[in-house]
Amino acid sequence: MTSSLQQQIQQFYDTSSALWEQVWGEHMHHGYYGATGRHRKDRRQAQVELIDRLLGWGEVTQASHILDVGCGIGGSTLYLAEKYQALATGITLSPVQAERATERAIAAGFTNLEKTPQASFQVADALNTPFEDNQFDLVWSMESGEHMPDKRQFLQECFQLLQPGGTFLMATWCHRPTNSLAGPLTPDEQKHLKEIYQVYCLPYVISLPEYERSLKKLAFKT
Ligand SMILES: C[S@@+](CC[C@H](N)C(=O)[O-])C[C@H]1O[C@@H](n2cnc3c(N)ncnc32)[C@H](O)[C@@H]1O
Repeated sequence: MTSSLQQQIQQFYDTSSALWEQVWGEHMHHGYYGATGRHRKDRRQAQVELIDRLLGWGEVTQASHILDVGCGIGGSTLYLAEKYQALATGITLSPVQAERATERAIAAGFTNLEKTPQASFQVADALNTPFEDNQFDLVWSMESGEHMPDKRQFLQECFQLLQPGGTFLMATWCHRPTNSLAGPLTPDEQKHLKEIYQVYCLPYVISLPEYERSLKKLAFKT
């Protein structure tokens, strides 16, 4: 990853995470508001429902070693560790987030090495992680893929970290498919995306079919 993008992302989350936590709570991602997107519900409940919908979609009924890639302040990490009584590790580019996530894990009793569930956090780059291959039976990425400057390398890294038969679940920002009648992105759409990239420190996003192609090449079963 180019260090300037990495530094920008780190600074972005180092400086904004306390505010995000005040406004959005421990989950720094969107929520599930029903199939139409219009169900009125509590913000936190919608965020947790999004997590559960994703787990349901992936048919995850158990997990023992979980990696949360781009963990924020550990909202999903602790939720998943508790739900599956598992050992969970979260990685982020932001030292401030890793510290806050660790504080939250300690406060919630997730750091006793003699007990499960457990959760720990570290600063690490998802494109070049410090972990051995085949370590995790669930690799989770909630709204972090959009930050990755090399989507293929990101998916490759996640693939290598998974145990055979493990599950990779990702929710990420995408632009619309361009292989339909609507055709390539219009100049207006590109301009709009560029503004989003600038505000949120994103290199670029891709479409769902592009993700699907990359995942199939890596022999993921989609
Ligand atoms: C929008 S936040 C989502 C946080 C968390 N997944 C959640 O849902 O609460 C994006 C996260 O991705 C992390 N991130 C971005 N690029 C990363 C990279 N290359 N390696 C590790 N983490 C990364 C950021 O540090 C941040 O924690």
